[in-house]
Amino acid sequence: MTNFCNVRVISNPVVLLNLCKMRDKNTDAQGVRIATRKITRCLLYEASKNLPLVEKEISTPIATFKAKTVDENINLIISPILRAGLIFTDEAIDILPQATIRHLGMYRDEKTLKPVWYYNKVPLEAPEPEKFYVYITDPMLATGNSLLGAIELYVNKGIPIKNIKCICIIAAPEGIKNIQSHYPDIEIITAAIDEKLNDKGYIVPGMGDAGDRIFNTL
Ligand code: URA
Repeated sequence: MTNFCNVRVISNPVVLLNLCKMRDKNTDAQGVRIATRKITRCLLYEASKNLPLVEKEISTPIATFKAKTVDENINLIISPILRAGLIFTDEAIDILPQATIRHLGMYRDEKTLKPVWYYNKVPLEAPEPEKFYVYITDPMLATGNSLLGAIELYVNKGIPIKNIKCICIIAAPEGIKNIQSHYPDIEIITAAIDEKLNDKGYIVPGMGDAGDRIFNTL
C-alpha cells in the first residue's frame, strides 16, 4: 500500500473486522449498513481530534471542577455527499451532537466521471470562518471529483484547510492524488487505501457501488 502524506489510515481490528464484512459480496444490505456504521464511528473519533477544547466548570456529585470538553462556540459541520455519505450522519450526530448536517448532492456523470451538482445545503455566508470545522463524508474516495467539489465550496467561504477533513472508508490512490494535487494540505481519514480504479471508475477491490449496497438498490 502506498503511503501518502496527510492521509490517516485507521486500521484497528474493529475497523478491519467490519471492512471485511462490508466488502464481502455475500453480506446483505443490513449487514453492510451495520458494518459501515461501526467503521464510520471509528473514523469520526479520529477526525474529532482536531476539535478545539475548552474548560467548563461543572459539578459532579462529589466536587466542582473544570472539565475539558469540546468548544460549544465552534460551528461543526458534517457534510455527507449524497447518497452513500448519508451512512455517516446517524453516527455523527450521535457522538457529536452539536454538529449541523449540511447535505451535498452531486451525481457522477458516467461518461466524464465529473460531479454534477443537484443539491447544496451549505449556507452562503460563513461569518468567522476560522470557527468552522467541516467533515466531508463519502464512503468511497474514487476519482475524488465529488470531494474536490465539496472542498472547494468550503474553501471559497474562507474556512481554513486545516479545519476541513475528508472522511472516507475506502480510498483509491488516483482519488487521493487528485485531491492532493489541488489541496496538498487537506487531511484524508480512511479505513483503507485500495489498489486502483477500474475503467468504469470503481475501486478495486473496493465494495462495489456503496450506495446500492447500503440502500439495497442493487
Ligand atoms: N463509488 C462507489 O460506490 N464505488 C466505487 O467503487 C467507486 C465509486
